[in-house]
Amino acid sequence: MLSRELYADDSVKWVVFGRDPAKPESVIDTNEYLIVSGDSAVLLDPGGTEIFPEVVSAVSDVVAIDKIKIIFGSHQDPDILSSLSLWLNLVPEVKVYVPWVWTGFITHFGCSAEQLVGVPDAGCSIELSPNHRLELVPAHYLHSSGNLHLYDPRAKILFSGDVGAGLLPANETALFVEDFPRHTRFMETFHRRWMPSDRARDVWLERVRKLDINLLCPQHGSIFRRPDVPRFFDWFGGLKLGSALA
Ligand SMILES: [Fe+2]
Ligand SMILES: [Fe+2]
Repeated sequence: MLSRELYADDSVKWVVFGRDPAKPESVIDTNEYLIVSGDSAVLLDPGGTEIFPEVVSAVSDVVAIDKIKIIFGSHQDPDILSSLSLWLNLVPEVKVYVPWVWTGFITHFGCSAEQLVGVPDAGCSIELSPNHRLELVPAHYLHSSGNLHLYDPRAKILFSGDVGAGLLPANETALFVEDFPRHTRFMETFHRRWMPSDRARDVWLERVRKLDINLLCPQHGSIFRRPDVPRFFDWFGGLKLGSALA
């Protein structure tokens, strides 16, 4: 499984994992992100049960598993959280931040309500250390009815869940978007089908365009570097969403 450092300073590190060659072809490829901040770590959208052993192994090469204090789930999908009960067996004290609206559903993945922190619709801020906060940013209806993204103002990284997702064929392995116009072919059908609301998209764009972003990190496919971030916003802003209604 790919493991690549995306950002590092004296106390904070972002690492992405993905493109697991051993995963069954029937499951969708996902990116898992780890933020190590001082003595704690945060795991973003830990993924499905099928890739759990590979993710544990890749994460433990970067940080001791018991340093994981927070798991963040952007929304309720199985490719995001079906491994949750397995993670909770490993790190039972971890706090699992998810949109509040999904808490009663995510317990069906085999965790108790007490293990979940229901994040309000307006989002919230998580303080990892006095000079490192993470912002949980509302992204409702993109695509899920309760949906959050995560912004790290120190690393200038926005983790954008399914927004920006590219469904790459097996021969496309680039970690970063290299040719934005060409990359849109891997995103267009997905965004038009899975993102239902132009209004939700416009509200989100207005919010995230104000953020200082070096990397836009989706849960599937390649990562956008700074020049491609506003390009992605412009492209997404011009897309007709909700294709199944056509
Ligand atoms: Fe999803
Ligand atoms: Fe997804």
